[in-house]
Amino acid sequence: MKINKLYVSAIVMILLMLGFTYIAVGMDSKSAGGDIVNDLAILGAIVIFSATIIVAIKYVRQMQTDKATGKLAEDNWDGIGEYENELPIGWSIIFLGTIVWAFWYMLFGYPVNAYSQIGEYNKDVKISNAKFEKKYTNLTKTQLTNMGESIFIVDCAACHGLAADGLNGTAANLNKRIQVKSVEYVIEHGSDNHLSAHELATGMPVMSAGLTKKQIHTVAEYVSNGFDKSNKAGAKIFASTCASCHGADGYGTPYVAPNIHTFTPTLVAHIVGHGKHGGIGVMPAFKNLNPVQLKAVATYVTAISKGE
Ligand code: HEC
Ligand code: HEC
Repeated sequence: MKINKLYVSAIVMILLMLGFTYIAVGMDSKSAGGDIVNDLAILGAIVIFSATIIVAIKYVRQMQTDKATGKLAEDNWDGIGEYENELPIGWSIIFLGTIVWAFWYMLFGYPVNAYSQIGEYNKDVKISNAKFEKKYTNLTKTQLTNMGESIFIVDCAACHGLAADGLNGTAANLNKRIQVKSVEYVIEHGSDNHLSAHELATGMPVMSAGLTKKQIHTVAEYVSNGFDKSNKAGAKIFASTCASCHGADGYGTPYVAPNIHTFTPTLVAHIVGHGKHGGIGVMPAFKNLNPVQLKAVATYVTAISKGE
């Protein structure tokens, strides 16, 4: 009775698996006018499934009826003992073989410098970039700006908008250096976006200590509105709290703090190359642009931010 049940479930199993194979392959065979390859796949499936199930049944039955033999080891745990059987010779060979194969694979089978499609792609990109750079050296500012505009439309406009206005706050408005919201965010949270244009510079610490919410807003408006001299209160806070790093007019100090008065091509290229996160959101880094393209898009953004 037990064994019958086993066979029945085996047959159900085979039929199920064949059913799935038919759904995956067989449907196609009709639409493709009975492609013989699909029929062969079904045939292969029948053979593989039957063989697998027959072997599985053999071992299940063996487990049901077999008695273990051999010498029991001395130790036993609550009556459960262990036989002192030798490791099957086939297993030992496969185990040792796997170790040997692993070393072979590491050292010779897939050497680090071997051919790879990714390697070939990278090589081609390098060659193409070199060609590109050779062709487009010494571009005039107008040419750079034009190239930058094309890149901007492809890579940046999706977030910043064609008019670079930030699409209602989705991304930064690039027509001005910085928005009130972003300045406030940086004062309250600090910033570490590599804006200082060299890798070792540390970011800006949180600067809200000693400033009220209102003062933070006032100085943020001062910065955001192009260092608006009529905002006396803002100018005063800036001079006492920010100028030591950013310079009296916010044009930045090399190695200390970036220019927050205007965009410069270097600064924009750095933002594009590293990405940025802040009060508005997250901008990904653009590693796919080559140096000429980076310079072009940075020149373009710098130009529009000045309203040129
Ligand atoms: C200790 C020096 C230091 C002081 C003081 C300081 N900053 Fe900064 N600031 C930095 C550095 C460094 C960065 C660049 C951070 C980065 O790489 O993300 C920065 C970045 C900024 C930015 C971000 C620019 C951007 O494009 O996102 C703004 C805005 C800013 N600072 C405003 C201020 C204001 C306003 C004050 C005064 C309340 C101030 N900072 C005080 C060092 C300073
Ligand atoms: C996935 C959307 C997205 C794309 C694409 C994108 N940006 Fe941005 N960008 C942002 C966001 C969001 C911010 C604001 C980050 C923050 O909160 O300070 C930003 C900020 C900036 C800033 C800094 C503004 C500041 O206040 O310091 C510049 C410059 C900039 N982007 C230029 C570009 C250029 C050039 C491209 C195309 C190469 C580009 N971005 C592509 C989302 C994007």
